[in-house]
Amino acid sequence: MNFKVLVLLLCNLRAILNGLEYKVNGGSHKLPPMLFLGIESSCDETGVALVQTQATGAPRLLSHALFSQIDMHQAYGGVVPELASRDHIKRVIPLTREVLKNAQIDLNQVDVVAYTRGPGLAGALLVGAGVGCALGAALNKPVLGVHHLEGHLLSPFLSDDPPEFPFVALLVSGGHTQLMRVEAVGAYEILGETVDDAAGEAFDKSAKLMGLGYPGGPALSKCAETGNSLAFKLPRPLLHSGDLDFSFAGLKTSVLTQANKLGDSLHDVNTTHKADLAASTEAAIVEVLLKKSMAALKLTGMRRLVVAGGVGANRLLRKQLNEACQKVGVRVHYPELHLCTDNGAMIAMAAAMRVQAGQQAPQFDYSFDVKPRWPLSHILTASH
Ligand code: KG4
Ligand code: ZN
Repeated sequence: MNFKVLVLLLCNLRAILNGLEYKVNGGSHKLPPMLFLGIESSCDETGVALVQTQATGAPRLLSHALFSQIDMHQAYGGVVPELASRDHIKRVIPLTREVLKNAQIDLNQVDVVAYTRGPGLAGALLVGAGVGCALGAALNKPVLGVHHLEGHLLSPFLSDDPPEFPFVALLVSGGHTQLMRVEAVGAYEILGETVDDAAGEAFDKSAKLMGLGYPGGPALSKCAETGNSLAFKLPRPLLHSGDLDFSFAGLKTSVLTQANKLGDSLHDVNTTHKADLAASTEAAIVEVLLKKSMAALKLTGMRRLVVAGGVGANRLLRKQLNEACQKVGVRVHYPELHLCTDNGAMIAMAAAMRVQAGQQAPQFDYSFDVKPRWPLSHILTASH
């Protein structure tokens, strides 16, 4: 018997002993309904949630609670890692109590504790991982470390209109911009990604230099509502590159150049300069995301698009994607608006879907590490 077979056998034995029945790398899985407690603490939001798998169909969200640190970091114009970690420590247990109370679930009923293992801020991740593993050990229940981006990617399955596999995914968060071919849970192929700044970063950095505060995406988008998107000619980086990669660093530089040219008049409330620059910036970012997503759909021949991550909350992006996809008969799915940005529900959901699909077994080993840098490609299954 070779080593791999022995490991698989031991994994299966352990799972069966603990009332789970699953197969590694695909296949059918008859698992009894299980309760997943999800903890997210990778950046500036503490999120906790309870998701329950069902005999048939997608897991469902029983309850979730979130504490956003935005007010605390606003004074600094961005996330201060040390403050973030300290605040996660304060919030995570009260939020867990709140979630259990709202769902009328006793802590002992939780079957699996899931936490965000990375990527993210090391200190912040350690809080969720530490609490998750401590809870698991105290309850003698298994734990599972989840990839934050997979959480975002699978978050549309929590919506009233969940997608079906396969689909093209546009993952647009604060630190990542990727187009992916998604065949199943764990079977993701990166079709293109940003070579420098992420779309969320382009929103955040542009907003900051316009004096719009943090987080920049929603602030810039709000300011853009009354602006003219044709007022400033801004670049659409890599729009005609012929591939599915993105680049947003040059756009930010152009916004800076325009802002410098405007000088004090940018902030003059008697002009529309700020709204115009915001609208022009938003239009540039959205156009690139739109055109590359449509190109990815064309390339793959897929009829379904899933948008996930914080920038997926952007109204203009949703409007333009809806219109373009409707024209070519493609269905678009988004997470619920309040689940676009970081939350515990997506972590519990990703864990539940992974276990249900037999992609990952929860562990009874409570030693943990976190992965501040963790490419999504590292969790792909070799079988797809
Ligand atoms: O996914 P997320 O919550 O965190 C990461 O994993 O990075 O994404 C946060 C990003 C920030 O860059 C924020 O400015 C952006 O999402 N964002 C938006 C909007 N809401 C959040 N960008 C554009 N329009 C929005 N409405
Ligand atoms: Zn995120």
